[in-house]
Amino acid sequence: MKRCCTRWNDRQKAGKRILCLLMACLLLTGCQGTRKEEEKNSIRIGISLYRGDDTFINNIRNELEEQAKEYERENGIKVTLDIQDAKGSQNTQNNQVERFISLGCDVLCINPVDRMDASVIIDKAMTAGVPVVFFNRQPVEEDMNRWDQLYYIGVDAKETAVLQGQIIVDLYREDPLAVDINGDGVVSYVMLEGESSHQDSLIRTEWSVQTLKDGGVPIEKITGGIANWERSQASALMEQWLGEYPETIELVVSNNDDMALGAIDALSRAGITEVNVIGIDGTIPGIEAIENGKLLGTVSANKEVYGSAIMELAASCALGVEPPGEYPLTDGTYYWPPQEILVHNTDG
Ligand code: BGC
Repeated sequence: MKRCCTRWNDRQKAGKRILCLLMACLLLTGCQGTRKEEEKNSIRIGISLYRGDDTFINNIRNELEEQAKEYERENGIKVTLDIQDAKGSQNTQNNQVERFISLGCDVLCINPVDRMDASVIIDKAMTAGVPVVFFNRQPVEEDMNRWDQLYYIGVDAKETAVLQGQIIVDLYREDPLAVDINGDGVVSYVMLEGESSHQDSLIRTEWSVQTLKDGGVPIEKITGGIANWERSQASALMEQWLGEYPETIELVVSNNDDMALGAIDALSRAGITEVNVIGIDGTIPGIEAIENGKLLGTVSANKEVYGSAIMELAASCALGVEPPGEYPLTDGTYYWPPQEILVHNTDG
């Protein structure tokens, strides 16, 4: 029995030696792996856009491409962007994610089609160990909390709305009749809303109106409707309202610039120039409309910072280093790019 035990001890010792050897091998491979990481001088980023024909998203896409070049120049790391358009289909986007992973993307930047249904993407990314930076369409908190390699970048919707309301509050304080055009003591407005499921639509609608009220502007809502962020849909709605409420509308509050431009299209067709229209985004066509006096004002997200924050965060995920300090993350997960008011300069 004893001998038997001794024999087992010998075997255990031999086993231990093999185990040590194995561990040394593993450690060595681990180190080599780390060395490989340190030497990583190229990264591949898979980007999927909910709709490539969305004006704001297009502006962000262009900025991302610029920032990728800038990142390459500054860091000497080759950046390959694989940009895909999901064309409004969650299913297509899920397939794009699968393809990105099979192509060996180091990180994914996803503008989800259905922000309530990000779980499939998260499942795939987690299984493959590929971090995800979501942007513009915010997944629900429950999904975001599933993994510490999930991030979100997008403007703070309440801040946007408060700034948008402030455009009118400031003008009203300066010159009430510039807002209450018919001078009846009430500012009659219509509201153009984005997609009903988008966090920005709900919060912007609520807080722009609240800011007008808090700022002492005597407002009355005539009507409102959902135009899904789209210029043509907004134009059709506005045309209908102009017919239903002739000579009543004094202000158009729009959840984004494209819909504001749609309202302006309808106003132009009707030959109306005095109605104030305010948007959000600071898109290129939006800024042009401010310059030529058709759009009173907008809230512009700083696209350079927006694009750079996505790029820098994605790169740090891809390289496995700390997130960039210049874009501090709330709760280690969220970054909100800065925004500013742009208004038509009546002096210029
Ligand atoms: C922008 C819209 C855009 C939408 C797309 C919003 O934050 O203001 O212009 O269409 O995001 O998700």
